[in-house]
Amino acid sequence: PTKLRVSEAFLDAQVGEKVRIQGWVRSFRPQKQNLFLHVNDGSSLKSLQVIAPAAMNDPLLGFGCAVEVRGILKKSPHSKQPVELEAEQIWVIGECNPDFPFKIKERHSLEYIRQFLHLRCRTNAFSSLLRIRSEATAAVHSYFKNNGFLLVHTPTITSNDCEGAGELFQVEPPGTTFANEGSFFSVPVYLTVSGQLHLEVMSGAFPRVYTFGPTFRAENSQSRRHLAEFFMVEAEISFTESIEDLTKVWKSAFTAKIVINCYPKSYIFLSPLHLKDTLDDMLRKSFPVITYTEAIDILKRSSETFTFPTDWGCDLMTEHEKFLVKHCGNIPVFVTDYPHDLKPFYARDNQDHPKHTAAAVDLLVPGVGELSGGSLREERLDLLRSRLGECGLEDTYSWYLDLRRFGSVPHGGFGLGFERYLQCILGVDNIKDVIPFPRFSHSCLL
Ligand code: 4AD
Ligand code: MG
Repeated sequence: PTKLRVSEAFLDAQVGEKVRIQGWVRSFRPQKQNLFLHVNDGSSLKSLQVIAPAAMNDPLLGFGCAVEVRGILKKSPHSKQPVELEAEQIWVIGECNPDFPFKIKERHSLEYIRQFLHLRCRTNAFSSLLRIRSEATAAVHSYFKNNGFLLVHTPTITSNDCEGAGELFQVEPPGTTFANEGSFFSVPVYLTVSGQLHLEVMSGAFPRVYTFGPTFRAENSQSRRHLAEFFMVEAEISFTESIEDLTKVWKSAFTAKIVINCYPKSYIFLSPLHLKDTLDDMLRKSFPVITYTEAIDILKRSSETFTFPTDWGCDLMTEHEKFLVKHCGNIPVFVTDYPHDLKPFYARDNQDHPKHTAAAVDLLVPGVGELSGGSLREERLDLLRSRLGECGLEDTYSWYLDLRRFGSVPHGGFGLGFERYLQCILGVDNIKDVIPFPRFSHSCLL
């Protein structure tokens, strides 16, 4: 008999035919005369009901085991499922030990299933997340392709610390000393913290470029929004002269109908569908833009008690970011013009501002806080050179200065944490639940 994917069984075309399916038992009800099972093969979230005479019961058969079933596909008399498989033979391909941590018909919390990183893809909740993540990945690429961006594969191994925050993982083959001489590349190299500088290289020849790949930060944080390995979507746009130009593209990328299409079916296993309406609503609104200085004023005037005090010049913490989002009506908000000293060397100096600020912007969103950071880049050779000089980086970045010596143009870009994006649009509390294999301090299982 033809092998059928379970999703194909629902297309009606094979009704009346002898078929075989292979999958995992998702429910199992032995009754006096008949056995009823639901088999799912991962081709969609749907399971196919299988009916077999009670005599076909096998002691190895049960929830979680892998089976092959052969039989006739029939129209079902029940309205709930259009078709069912009348089994002629059932083989247990792989039995399921009773220690299997997930129980039939139980809705386990994401927290519970996270204890079993190697097994959690077998639950509806996590497999739904994986499906949405896969759809969203494809949608990111299609957004950028449709909007004239060139995809650049930026390197994973690099000798620069783009963000200058020192949160680097150093890379060497086992057994090498980390001294420069005799090391593999002859210079210290790291896993990338951002592909921005490589994108800036490319924006000397292409007007719009982007990259989307894994990024690494040795941040010793146990928070619900930090990972040691996360995926970042980064875009860089040449001939961008103002923050308004930048936020326009930024907002359109964020609000692209990335996940909406795959929402209804998969999302039902995650949280209430009303969140989709809230999301649709939120994405239609225009996002407020406030300056960092205004943000500090708002925080200082509020009656909220914060763990960390705020003052002009201090970085915004998650609690502040979340407060600002609420204050602005629980929709995404752009915060612009941060103190120059808080931002990396590449951020463009706002020389004409009374306070020393840079043309750097963060996008803060409900539930998460900072989702995305970007800036106009310092395109003026003299200013960049003196900034790099202050940081003692002029030699390290001589190639970067070259970009300003040979046909420099105003440009800017942003980087968006893909997991935080998924957290925001799906209302998922913990970042570890939106990535297949989370890596964070003291944890690199599998
Ligand atoms: O704000 P960040 O550090 O900005 C950059 O790296 C720029 N070079 C990007 C650019 O302009 N091309 O990081 C960008 C985003 C953050 O806003 C956050 O969403 C995410 O990356 N991010 C993390 N996500 C998960 N775990 C971490 N440890 C993260 N660190 C940053
Ligand atoms: Mg940032």
